[in-house]
This record gives sequence, structure tokens and C-alpha cells, in this order.
Amino acid sequence: MGSKLKLLDLIIPKLEAMVSDGDSILDLMAGTHAIGYALKPKHKIIANDIQEYSKVIGVGRIENNSVSLTERDLEKDILPYFRKNKKYTLFVDHYSDTYFSRKQCKDIDDLRYAIDQVKNSTKRALYLTALIYAMGYCQSSPGHFAQYMPKSHPRLKTLRELSVFDAFKKKVLENHVVFSKFKNKVLKKDYRELLSEDGRKKYLKGVKLIYIDPPYSEAQYSRFYHVLETIVKYDYPKLDYKGLYRDDRFQSNFCYENKVAEEFDFIANASSKIKASLAISYSERGLISPNAIAQICKKYYKNVRVHSFKHSHSMQGRGMILDLKEVLITAQN
Ligand SMILES: C[S@@+](CC[C@H](N)C(=O)[O-])C[C@H]1O[C@@H](n2cnc3c(N)ncnc32)[C@H](O)[C@@H]1O
Repeated sequence: MGSKLKLLDLIIPKLEAMVSDGDSILDLMAGTHAIGYALKPKHKIIANDIQEYSKVIGVGRIENNSVSLTERDLEKDILPYFRKNKKYTLFVDHYSDTYFSRKQCKDIDDLRYAIDQVKNSTKRALYLTALIYAMGYCQSSPGHFAQYMPKSHPRLKTLRELSVFDAFKKKVLENHVVFSKFKNKVLKKDYRELLSEDGRKKYLKGVKLIYIDPPYSEAQYSRFYHVLETIVKYDYPKLDYKGLYRDDRFQSNFCYENKVAEEFDFIANASSKIKASLAISYSERGLISPNAIAQICKKYYKNVRVHSFKHSHSMQGRGMILDLKEVLITAQN
């Protein structure tokens, strides 16, 4: 949910037209890193997101310029430990027959245990990314973790029979990371900290373009990703509500109608201070209109444009709404 994977053909050419080859680009709210990964061959990428699971994907796919996994790695790193697990029981204890069957939970705990035995941090990130993928593939829910399917759901039986281990193995073996010559960096910060005066000095020297893809509705993203956050942290959190949400989940100011304009103003101001161009992905159905965002950008930038793309949009498991317009607002001096 929220990944820009299906929009890459529309967004990437517009972003590349704003910079020269070799320029540094900041993906400020990187999520699954779809954008940074597509830009990686020609640009130095600095990527950031507040979520831990996003950091793991970024370490494996954005920072990593040397490590790929093979079947031999899997045999050496994972298989000897996989069924030896006696200690890791978080998923069997708390998620059996919710988003996963008990058997699927056992695979998840055993894989997580085996991954923790891997010494190399890049490899560990790649294995965790494969486990995140496997959990997304096997979950009994409408495509995210806001709620799990009721026992009466017609697809439940099929989903419960999917093997987490097989999905994990498939992802490990097809995961050939694109390498580049740039020394990329992945951070896990609140973007306000990254764009503060100290953050700019420390992390953002030479950045020529800031890309942002913020949440655009009242739905807090952390509700859709809490299980992925938990598999990465593996910290036995206190779980709330029927959806078993972490009680420490992050609340973004972009999800409040009375705060969102100020967030855009803060970002446009900070990015103009480091003389970077700014590109903002947003929806026409967001909490604030694209034109209102453009007006904010105009306080700090001379050339501001709103590009519209047609896009089919997932309604959090309730089917697809077609032909919604997704926008990219570009701002340059
Ligand atoms: C729409 S998603 C980004 C999707 C991403 N472009 C992709 O293709 O996967 C928005 C992201 O903003 C992150 N986010 C929300 N508030 C944040 C904040 N204050 N600081 C950093 N990241 C934040 C969320 O964790 C989420 O991953």
C-alpha cells in the first residue's frame, strides 16, 4: 500500500529531468524505496523514513553495492538454524490464526531466529527484506495489516495454506540487487530532524533534489505496517485493538487536516535553504489540494508546476477505484 512501484514510468523521467547524472537525491519518506531504487543507477541516494522496516529494505537495496544472495548462502546461513529455534515465539504466541495460521507463524519465528544468526548486516537486511515480502504475500488480510480476515472469508483457507518458507526462499533467490558506484545512505529519522539546521549540515550537503511522498489521508500508515515493524524489531510490543496494533505506532502530522499545510511549508522552506529542487507526490483526493501545495511552494520557488497522472488506487482492500489522479508537484529556482 502506498508504494510508487506502479507509477515509476511516470514519475522517474520527471525527477531525472530536474537533475544531472551523478547528482544527489533525497527520498525523504522512502517507504519501500521504490523511487530511490529506480534512481539508484544514475544518482547518489539519501533515503529516509521513520519506520524501522523501511530502513531494513533500504540497507539491503539502496546502501548495498556489493552483496547478492545465492542458494548456497541460504543453505549455509539459514537452513542449519531454521528449525533449531527454541527461543523465538512472538508470532506463534500473538498472531496465530489472525493475520497468519499457527504454522505460518512458526515459519516466521524460525526464520527470524535464523536471520539473527547471520553476522553480515547487509545479508541480514536482505534476508529480512525477503521475510517481509513473504509475510506480505501470505497474510490473511485485504493486502495490508489494518485488519485480518474473518474465519468465514472464502479466501482464508487458500491463504492459510501458503508456505512462508517457500515465499521467503523464492524472494531470496530472485533478489538480485542493482549496484551503483555511489555511496548511498539510509536513515531512520523524523524528517523534521533531518531538515533542521543541524540535520541539513550533517546529512544533506550537496543534495540537489528532495522527493517527498507523504501520507495524504487521515489513515495513519503505521496502521498498515505494524506487523512488518514488529518482525524487524522483534521486541514483543504491547498490542492494541482487534487489529493487534503496536501501542507505540507513529502518528504523522500529514494525516491531520489542520497540520498538513504547515508540514509542506516547513519542507519547502528547508529544501529551498539548501538550494535543492523539490518534487512532491500527492493525490487529488488528499487532505489539501495540489493547488494549495503549489501555492505554498511558490513562497520559496519561482517555477512551480503540477503534473497530473491517471492512476488506479487501492481502497484498502475494498476493491479498486479507477482513474484517480495522482499528482507530482515540482518546484525549482
Ligand atoms: C506514501 S508512503 C511512501 C511510499 C514510498 N514512496 C514507496 O514507494 O514505497 C509515506 C511514508 O512516509 C513515512 N513518514 C510519515 N511521517 C514521517 C515522518 N515524520 N518522518 C519520516 N517519515 C515519515 C511513512 O513511514 C511512510 O513510509
